[in-house]
Amino acid sequence: MSALSEKEARERAEWLRREIREHQYRYYVLDAPTIPDSEYDKLYRELEDIERRFPSLVTPDSPTQRVGGEVSPAFRSVPHRTPVLSLSNAFSEGEVAAFVRRVADLAGEKRSLTFVVEPKIDGLSIVLRYESGFLSLGLTRGDGLTGEDVTRNVRTVASVPLRLRELPGGVVPEFLEVRGEVYLAKDDFARLNEEREAEGLPTFANPRNAAAGSLRQLDPRVTAKRPLRALFYEVREIAMPGNSQTGLFPDPGELSGSPAATEIGSLELLKTLGFPVPTYTTATSVDDLVASIARWSELRRTLPYDTDGIVIKLDDRELARRLGSTGHSPRASLAYKFPPEQVETRVLDIILQVGRTGVLTPTAILEPVRVAGSTVSRATLHNEDIIREKDVRIGDAVILQKAGDVIPEVVSVIKEKRTGEEREFHWPDKCPACGSEVVRFPGEVAYRCTGMSCPAQLREKLIHFASRDAMDIRGLGPAVVDALVEAGLVKDAGDIYALTVEDIRALPRQGEKSTDKLISAIHESRERPLARLIFALGIRHVGQAASYSLADHFGSLDAFLAATPEELTKVPDIGPLTADSIVRSRNQPSMTELIAKLKRYGVKAAVSESRPAVGAKGPLEGQTVVITGSVPGMTRQEAEEKVRELGGTVSSSVSRKTSFVVVGDNPGSKLDKARELGIRIIPAHEFAQAVKQGRGF
Ligand code: IVH
Repeated sequence: MSALSEKEARERAEWLRREIREHQYRYYVLDAPTIPDSEYDKLYRELEDIERRFPSLVTPDSPTQRVGGEVSPAFRSVPHRTPVLSLSNAFSEGEVAAFVRRVADLAGEKRSLTFVVEPKIDGLSIVLRYESGFLSLGLTRGDGLTGEDVTRNVRTVASVPLRLRELPGGVVPEFLEVRGEVYLAKDDFARLNEEREAEGLPTFANPRNAAAGSLRQLDPRVTAKRPLRALFYEVREIAMPGNSQTGLFPDPGELSGSPAATEIGSLELLKTLGFPVPTYTTATSVDDLVASIARWSELRRTLPYDTDGIVIKLDDRELARRLGSTGHSPRASLAYKFPPEQVETRVLDIILQVGRTGVLTPTAILEPVRVAGSTVSRATLHNEDIIREKDVRIGDAVILQKAGDVIPEVVSVIKEKRTGEEREFHWPDKCPACGSEVVRFPGEVAYRCTGMSCPAQLREKLIHFASRDAMDIRGLGPAVVDALVEAGLVKDAGDIYALTVEDIRALPRQGEKSTDKLISAIHESRERPLARLIFALGIRHVGQAASYSLADHFGSLDAFLAATPEELTKVPDIGPLTADSIVRSRNQPSMTELIAKLKRYGVKAAVSESRPAVGAKGPLEGQTVVITGSVPGMTRQEAEEKVRELGGTVSSSVSRKTSFVVVGDNPGSKLDKARELGIRIIPAHEFAQAVKQGRGF
């Protein structure tokens, strides 16, 4: 194929694009490729070659044009045309039965109802817009009203059509908005984590986080390297050219603008237009649905992606539209969540981990066991009360699960398996790391090490100080911190700035290059803005959001340190508990010494940085949260303050405006109210884990 004329090249390129698109469709949508990968690669390379030689022939929807353009500094916010809703959750068959009764009552007619059952894909919700058949916009769900423009990243996802396939009769919708899920397949996730581990990068906790992190990359070239996939399950809006009916789908009647009058019809339509869709089953009664749950509990293992439940949808979309929605969820759909996978293992030991504020966290060392996709060998036991409540002893056989499918948790002890050899855990009166006295303050569940120079506390403090969201000192990770503490070179974070090239060079495994890098990273961190420095100080209850508020409000380190408790509580996000913690901590000699050192060594605490774009005011921004029952490991006041720290609002009563209700042990009537209104329910242990990690829902 040497000297092609431009006309020949154009024709050949058009043919190749059609072929490639067709093969992509067969591969991604029909799951039935008709040529081997090598043949496909040949077609693709030929197209690339022609486009290289005739750049004027490149079209934006060419399969080769998935990545392009400049890296943008942030994602643009775009309002959704209609709210992007979520689903209310059910955790039992009883709740599914109640849902069907409710739908039947509301429907009012004595006709039979059909439900579609789909897997609940554990990924990231995405809304795509097509104009005249071409992909024009890709948005994240955001808060449901406004999303982030991730068009350039979505384009890199191979299974997302850049242009729609024609419907029979050669028509293409003039306007189309669809909703689906971007996800990582289980084995792609495992491979990605292996690669990251080999490169010394942090691994992702689960495929969902990995998919979200990948899609929200500012540089689409990074997204393109991640093996993201997508499935689509909802036609949000559709308009045919000149209102012409395709005849394919029943007359929409009142369902304005949609020829897809049923869920099944919508899925078929999506497939015809070139979108990969999830497999689904149907059910026409509660018994049917209960059988579906059992079937999908098995089927989920065979799916290439993670599912945490199934989605039950009324097939009749017109009826669904009439039923409307409560709060954030349509009345005609329900997510049934599978119970978390539980496995049996044994407690080999219970050890204490010392946190940066001196809190001693008991951790169970377990016989390694695989659960929900990874091997687990330790699980937090939270505190003394929980160990006592569950009566966990060293040597016990226990049931283990992952809370929120992420954090390993001991559910219960299998007491029947006790042999009498088990040993109760006794809380020491001395810190295992430094030998200082251990105390449990009144009103607190945690024991604390009172040592002022506890090496374990110091280690955690230093790791936090250097971490990405704090002073961001690259190269100062746990291993280097351990070596520095061991060598006695660093007694507090201030000493980091006095380290010399010789000091670092003398540490194990430090070469010339890594030493230079670390020295310059330390030097650069002197310029970090005030908010990061406040966060880096590691004051209890002062998280990232609070640090930015404090920096915005006071403008300088000195003004922050001089503020009275009254002044502190005037700052958004700062409650009396946090204010009290700030005052206590800055009065400690170790803190005054640290601050003096930081100043002496030229840490500037400038005020230039605005809040990070990601989750600007925190992941719970705009959400109203109600808490009922006890939250493990926190007092009610602490739990409420955590919500505020993460940008949410706490309310004492459940209403339609409530975003979700946190339900702990001994919940009150708020739970019934939440169920009645179909408000999202979050188990307290999931909530506790999420807020501790600064996550939302
Ligand atoms: S339907 C109006 N179907 O689960 C609600 N959602 O809250 C439309 N999800 O954020 C959602 N798989 O991102 C639907 N087959 C599926 C789904 C699915 C995953 C996600 C969706 C939503 C969350 C439920």
